[in-house]
Amino acid sequence: MPLPFQQVWDPQDSVTIVTGASSGIGFELTRMLVDQGAHVVAVARRRERLTELANSTSRPERVHCIAGDVTEASTRMAALNVADSLGDGRLDLLVNNAGVGAIGPFADASPERMRRVMEVNFFAPVDWTRDALPRLRSVSQNGGRPVICNIGSVLGHRAVPDKSEYCASKFALHGWNDSLRAELVGDGIGVTLVSPSTTRSEFFDSLVETEPDQKSNSIGSWPPRRVAQATLLAIKRGRSEVILSLGGKALVYADRVSPPVMNGILAKRGR
Ligand SMILES: NC(=O)c1ccc[n+]([C@@H]2O[C@H](COP(=O)([O-])OP(=O)(O)OC[C@H]3O[C@@H](n4cnc5c(N)ncnc54)[C@H](OP(=O)(O)O)[C@@H]3O)[C@@H](O)[C@H]2O)c1
Repeated sequence: MPLPFQQVWDPQDSVTIVTGASSGIGFELTRMLVDQGAHVVAVARRRERLTELANSTSRPERVHCIAGDVTEASTRMAALNVADSLGDGRLDLLVNNAGVGAIGPFADASPERMRRVMEVNFFAPVDWTRDALPRLRSVSQNGGRPVICNIGSVLGHRAVPDKSEYCASKFALHGWNDSLRAELVGDGIGVTLVSPSTTRSEFFDSLVETEPDQKSNSIGSWPPRRVAQATLLAIKRGRSEVILSLGGKALVYADRVSPPVMNGILAKRGR
C-alpha cells in the first residue's frame, strides 16, 4: 500500500544511535526503530535498563547497548565504534535525546546546576554530532539521506520561570540546531528538531539539584510512546521541525503572536 506521505528516510537495515534509550522517549523510539528493521546503538547510564530494552524488542540482537554517561568522550567513542562495526563507517541516524531537567529559582541554585544541565542537554549533543558527521557524510556521499534528530522542548522556544537552566540549554540546542541545518543542506544531511511538551516519562524523577516538592505546571501531557511515534514520523518525512501537543503549540504560537502578553501571563504565574 502506498504511504500517505513521501518517505525520505527508511529505517530498514539502517545504522542508528539513540542516546537516553533506557527510559521514556528514547526507550520507545528504540523499540520502534528496531521493529522497523534498524540496528540501534542504545546509550544511557543504566545498563540493566538497556538490557530490558533489548529484550523487549522483536529483534534483541539489533540493540547494541552502551552503558555510560553521554558527557564522557569514552561513551561516545564506544558507541561510534560499535556503529562503525555495524555499518562499515556509515551512520544513518543520530538521535540526541538524553536530557535532564531542574526546577527552582536561578538565584537559589548552585553554579553546578547550570553547568550539569548544559553539559548533558547542549554540549553532549554538540560533541556527539561533531564526531558523527564524517560517518553521516559517508552515507550522503553514497546517495543516502542521513539525519541528525535533536530532541529539544517547547521550552526551547518560550522560556518560563523556575526552569532557567533547562530553558537555557534547550534554547542553545535550538539555535545550534538551526544553524547546523542550514550548513548541512548542501551535504545532504537532514537536521530535525523535535520539541515535545510535558511527557509522562521518568524525567521528573531525576531532576538535578531540585527540592522534592517542586512540580511542573503544564496543560496536558503525552505518553512517551506518542512522542516517539511523532519523532519517527518527523525523521521519515524529513521534517525540519515539529512542535508537539496542543498545550505545547499554544505556548509557542501564542508567544510568537504576542511576546508581551505571554511575559505578563508568566510573570503572574511566577508570583
Ligand atoms: N518529559 C518531559 O516532559 C519532556 C518535555 C520536553 C522535552 N523532553 C526531552 O525529551 C528527552 C527525553 O526525556 P524523557 O522525557 O524521555 O525523560 P527520561 O525518561 O528521564 O529519559 C531520559 C533519558 O536520558 C538518559 N540520560 C540522562 N542523563 C544522562 C547522561 N548524563 N548520560 C547518559 N544518559 C543520560 C536517561 O538514562 P540514564 O538515567 O539511564 O542515564 C534516560 O534514558 C530529553 O532531552 C528531555 O529534555 C522531555
